[in-house]
Amino acid sequence: MMQILSLLFLLGVLTMESLSEEVQRLVDRRYNGLQFGATNQDYVLFKTRMDPLEESYTLCGWLKKRQAGHYKYWFAYSTSSSREEIRPADDGYFLTLSTPADMSSKVTVELGVWAHWCYTWSFSTLTAKVNYNGQLLGSVTTPSGRKVVVEGYVVLGNEFNSHGGDLNYPFGGDLFKANLFDEELDASQVKAMADAGLCSDIEEGYGRSRFLKWEDLLLEEKSGNVTEIDVGCYPDVEEESNSTEECECEEETFSRWDLLKNDKYFNRTVTAEMVEQLKESWDVLGDFEGATVTDRFISHFKFYHETDTCN
Ligand SMILES: *[C@@H]1O[C@H](CO)[C@@H](O)[C@H](O)[C@H]1NC(C)=O
Ligand SMILES: *[C@@H]1O[C@H](CO)[C@@H](O)[C@H](O)[C@H]1NC(C)=O
Ligand SMILES: *[C@@H]1O[C@H](CO)[C@@H](O)[C@H](O)[C@H]1NC(C)=O
Repeated sequence: MMQILSLLFLLGVLTMESLSEEVQRLVDRRYNGLQFGATNQDYVLFKTRMDPLEESYTLCGWLKKRQAGHYKYWFAYSTSSSREEIRPADDGYFLTLSTPADMSSKVTVELGVWAHWCYTWSFSTLTAKVNYNGQLLGSVTTPSGRKVVVEGYVVLGNEFNSHGGDLNYPFGGDLFKANLFDEELDASQVKAMADAGLCSDIEEGYGRSRFLKWEDLLLEEKSGNVTEIDVGCYPDVEEESNSTEECECEEETFSRWDLLKNDKYFNRTVTAEMVEQLKESWDVLGDFEGATVTDRFISHFKFYHETDTCN
C-alpha cells in the first residue's frame, strides 16, 4: 500500500505541472475542423507552388454548408494568368482551368450536414469530374494543351475576384479534411474515401501524393472569424496501436474506459471520491482530478495512459 501511495504521489508530482501541456499535446490537431464566419474578412490565404499538380490533381474535402444560396466558395487557387485554376463552391458549382463545371442542379445540398466532395482532373484525359458523397455528379472537358499553372495563391473560405485578393463570395460553413492530391483519383478511390467517413484516416494512405495536407492547412494564418472546431473525430488509440502484444498494457485496462461511460462517471467532474473508487483498478486517474469525464476526455486519457504504459 505504501508503495502504491508513494508511486501515486510521485506520479502526481511529476505530472501535475506538465499536465495541461501534456493533455494539450495529445489533442491531435488534425482532428479539428475549421468554421468560417460568413463575411469577406473570414478566410485563410497563403501563397504556394503547385508543381506536382501541373498534369493531374484531386481536391477532396468534407463540407458542412451553413449559408443558403449559391457561390459559397470554400477553396480557390488563383494564378497570375488565371483566377479560376481550381475553384469549388459548396453546392456543386465548380470552375477549373477557366472552365465551368456546374453540377449544382444535380444535387440538393442540405444545410448543416457534412458532405464529401471530390474534384478530379488530369491532362491525359482533359476531364474534370465533380463527385458528391462518392458519386460522380458529372464531368466537363478542359481545353486541350491547358495544364495547371504552378504558382499562385490559395484561399480557404472564399474566392479571388482578382489574383490574390478581392474576396467577395464567402463560404461561411465548416470545412474538414480538405486535401489536395497530385494525382487523378479514380471512381473507386473517391468512393472509398467518402465511404470511409468523416473521421477516417484513409487520406493518410496516399503519402506524399497528398500534396496539400489538412493538418498543414490548419497551421496557415487565419484572418477574421475562422476558428478550429471539434467535429467529433478523435484518435482511435486501440485501432492504431494494437499494442497488447508489443507492450505491457493489460488487456483488462480497456474495460475501464467503458466504466467511465457509466452514468456515475460520465459528464461528472473527477473528484477525490471518484479517484478513490476507481483507484484500485486504475490509479492514474488521480492526475486528472478536476477534469470532466467526456468522450473527448476518455479519448485523451486513453491515449495518455497507453503512451504512459507502453513507452
Ligand atoms: C463567427 O462565425 C460563426 C459561424 O458563422 C458565427 O456563429 C459567430 O457568431 C461568428 N463570430 C463573430 C464574432 O462574428
Ligand atoms: C488490430 O487487431 C484487430 C483484431 O486482432 C484487427 O482486426 C485490426 O485490423 C488490427 N488493427 C490494426 C491497425 O492492425
Ligand atoms: C453530457 O453533457 C452534455 C453537455 O451538457 C450533454 O449535451 C450530454 O447529453 C451529456 N451526456 C450524457 C450522457 O449525460
